[in-house]
Amino acid sequence: MTTTDALTAATLRLRAAGCVFAEEEAAILAEAAAETAATAEEETLAALVERRAAGEPLEQVVGYADFCGVRVHLRPGVFVPRVRSELLVRLGATIVRPDSLVVDLCCGSGALGLALRHRVPGIILHAADLDPVATACAVDNLGEKSIVHQGNLFDPLPAQLRGNIDLLLANVPYVATHHIPFLPAEARDHEPATALDGGVDGLAVFRAVTRAAPAWLAPAGVLLSEITEAQAETALAIAAGNGLTATITTDDDLDARVIVARQARPRQGKR
Ligand SMILES: C[S@@+](CC[C@H](N)C(=O)[O-])C[C@H]1O[C@@H](n2cnc3c(N)ncnc32)[C@H](O)[C@@H]1O
Repeated sequence: MTTTDALTAATLRLRAAGCVFAEEEAAILAEAAAETAATAEEETLAALVERRAAGEPLEQVVGYADFCGVRVHLRPGVFVPRVRSELLVRLGATIVRPDSLVVDLCCGSGALGLALRHRVPGIILHAADLDPVATACAVDNLGEKSIVHQGNLFDPLPAQLRGNIDLLLANVPYVATHHIPFLPAEARDHEPATALDGGVDGLAVFRAVTRAAPAWLAPAGVLLSEITEAQAETALAIAAGNGLTATITTDDDLDARVIVARQARPRQGKR
């Protein structure tokens, strides 16, 4: 089969499977197959096409996502960074300086920290996630310049970070449990429930993070979390209830909404 024939066959297979951008995806898969040729991980174009036709997210099939100016390596079963999360990175970049201490909590692949470090080189970046598959992926992405921890929320972070975090990026799971069945199959079937499910109102993990955040943030530290429009009022109340002063920033083009929560009463004796 010629390369053109293989591409045509891939496009037809993807189109039959319901891929809207079948031609573009076939080209991306062909490029990925060519990159793995002659390596131990070699996968033929046909094999990649079958994974995609079975509903696996394109980014997991090719092993990367281009996000916010950086290429993020992905593994099967790791949350695919969403385009809308660029708002978290943009806001983060307006808050930090090159020597700021940043924690990417619930880091998944480490995409947010990586993109922020690309924009503001020099930040001291720690990342943490509960899922060992995600933290392995974050290590791939963040390398030796940053430290990746595995465990529940703040538990695995070194005690020295307490009271010193300038920016806490926390893109926690925030889909309400009853909305999970309505997510696209790509997410439902190929991303772990722990990456998506935020409990009854989607804010269970956000509540836990916000409860602990004041003790971990520096006196002028900021917590950034993505939320939905329906969650905005409750999220603001949760932040206020934990002594944080919060506002909501939106980007309609990205369909993104971020709660920006600051330490309301700077504490003495830190940093
Ligand atoms: C919505 S994904 C976000 C991933 C990444 N920050 C991004 O934007 O691409 C949420 C992540 O939170 C992690 N997670 C869920 N519950 C957690 C917990 N209790 N402690 C730490 N990480 C948790 C999941 O494993 C998942 O990687």
